Amino acid sequence: MEVALLSLLILSILHVGTGLSLNYYDKTCPNYEATVTAAVKQAMATDNTVPAALLRMHFHDCFVRGCDGSVLLDSTANNTAEKAGPPNVSLHAFYVIDNAKSAIEAQCPGVVSCADILALAAKDAVALVSHNWGPTWKVPVGRLDGRISRASETSLLPAPTSNFAQLQQRFNQLNLSVKDLVTLSGGHTLGFAHCSSFQNRIHSSNSANGLDPTLNPSFASSLRKACPANNTANNAGATLDATSTVFDNMYYKMLLGGMSIFSSDAALLTHPKTKGFITTFANSQQAFNLAFVKSMLRMSSLTGGQEVRLNCRKVR
Ligand code: HEM
Repeated sequence: MEVALLSLLILSILHVGTGLSLNYYDKTCPNYEATVTAAVKQAMATDNTVPAALLRMHFHDCFVRGCDGSVLLDSTANNTAEKAGPPNVSLHAFYVIDNAKSAIEAQCPGVVSCADILALAAKDAVALVSHNWGPTWKVPVGRLDGRISRASETSLLPAPTSNFAQLQQRFNQLNLSVKDLVTLSGGHTLGFAHCSSFQNRIHSSNSANGLDPTLNPSFASSLRKACPANNTANNAGATLDATSTVFDNMYYKMLLGGMSIFSSDAALLTHPKTKGFITTFANSQQAFNLAFVKSMLRMSSLTGGQEVRLNCRKVR
C-alpha cells in the first residue's frame, strides 16, 4: 500500500511536462491497458522468455530516438531498420506487440500508438513476474510512433563492454542520472545473454588466464563451461542472474559477489557513488522496487514520434 501510494506520488511529479497522461485514451480506447495485459499474459503462458524480451525491447526503443516504437519497424527495400542493428538482432517476442496491436485495432482503430503498447507491455512483463513483492506502476500514455528507424543508430545503445564513463555519458545525454543507470541495470534480473556478449570477460587476451579479475573464480569457470573458447552453438550463453525468470534483487546480490555477466554490470562497482546504491538494492527489495518505478517512468517519458501506426512494423 505504502509502495503504491509513493509510486503514485512519484508518477504525478514525473509526467508533468512530458505530454503524457494517465487518461489519454479514456474516451477513445478505454480498454487499451487490459487488452495489452491480456496479450502479454497469453504469450507468457507458453513462453517464459517473453517478460525479459519485452523489458529489453522497451529500453532499446527509448534509447534510440526516444520511446517512439522505432525498434518495432521492419526493414524495407530502401531502409535497414534498428531491428537489424547488431545489438537488436537478439531482441525477440515482437509477436506479442503485434498481437496486442491487432486486439487493440479491433476495438479502436488507429488510436493507440505502438510506442505506448510497448511501454505498457514492459510494465506488465515486470509486474507479472514479480509475485507480490515486485514493482508495478501506471504508465502515462500518449506517445506517438516515429517514422524513422536506422540500424546505424543502434550504436547509441550502451555496449556490454562499456566502462563506467561511457555508460554515464550515454545516460546523461538522455537526462538520466547515475542512480537511473544503476537502477535500470537491475533489469538484468531477468533473461539471458549469448556467449558473444560476455566473451571479453572469460576469453580475454588482456590477462594471463584470460579471465576478468573482477569475476568470482567459480562463477567464471561456470561461464567458461557454458561458453568454451571454441564454442560454436549460436544459442549458448548464461542467465543474467540465478533467478532469471523472477523480477527480484538477486542481480545486485550477485553483482556484489563478482557474479555479474557483463563488463558494463561490473563497471557499476567502480564508482563510489554507485556502490552505495548497489548495496542498498541488494539489501532491500523495496528500495529497488521504488527506485525502479521512478527510473522506468523517467526512461519511458523520452518521447519522440509523429503518428499512430496501424501496424507496428510499418510506417503509415
Ligand atoms: C546499462 C547498459 C546496458 C547494457 C550494456 C546492456 C546490455 C545487454 C546485453 C549485451 C544483453 C544480452 C544480449 C544477448 O546476448 O542476447 C542484455 C540483455 C538484457 N537486458 Fe540489458 N543492457 C543494459 C541495460 C539494460 C536496461 C536499462 C534494461 C531494462 C530496464 C535491460 C534489460 C535487459 C534484459 C531484460 C535482458 C535479457 C533479454 C532476454 O533475455 O531476452 N538492460 N543487456
